[in-house]
Parts: sequence; structure tokens; C-alpha cells
Amino acid sequence: MVRVRFQRPDGSEAACDVPAGLSLMEAALNNGVDEIIADCGGALSCATCHVYVDDGWMDRTGAPSEIEEEMLEFAVDRRPNSRLSCQIKLGEGLDGLSVALPQRQQ
Ligand code: FES
Repeated sequence: MVRVRFQRPDGSEAACDVPAGLSLMEAALNNGVDEIIADCGGALSCATCHVYVDDGWMDRTGAPSEIEEEMLEFAVDRRPNSRLSCQIKLGEGLDGLSVALPQRQQ
């Protein structure tokens, strides 16, 4: 299992343990993290699964692909640590991953 933590804009946290192999977006949807909308279901065509990866995790999540970079242009309030959560696959190396949720997705 992989533990992930979602920091909400109001300061609260949603933590969940999910099987390795899921995407971060699937982890959110399966655990009632409503701030992740994921309109396209992970097809990399909506940017409504936007998250901010905590600084200490940026190396381990890796850099966005070229296509993800293009889609991030549509994310609201994009920052240098922005990622689309459908593109982050949760392996054991990401156990403990912490991300912040944006104020809004669209
Ligand atoms: S769910 Fe649509 S881009 Fe991630």
C-alpha cells in the first residue's frame, strides 16, 4: 500500500492508503477527495486533476511529459510544482507523498 496525503486549501488534510499502481487521481477519487474533478478520467485532456507537489517530493514524482506540460497551460493558478495527478503513478517509492490541492480546478 502507498500512503498519500492531500492538503486542502482550508488547511485540513485527507490521507489515504491505496494499492500501488493506481494514479494519484484515482487515489483521490476513490477516497472522496472532491477537489479532484478529473473530467476526462485520466485521458490527459482536461487539467481538472491539478495538484501542487510538495517540495520534498518533486524529484521522486519526476517531471511532467511534454503533453502534460501542454495541458498544464489550462490549469488554474499554475505553479512551478504543478502536476496533473492522473499522470503520477503511485509506486512504493512514493509512499508518504504529500500534495496540495488548488483553490479551484476551473
Ligand atoms: S484527469 Fe483529465 S487531465 Fe488528468
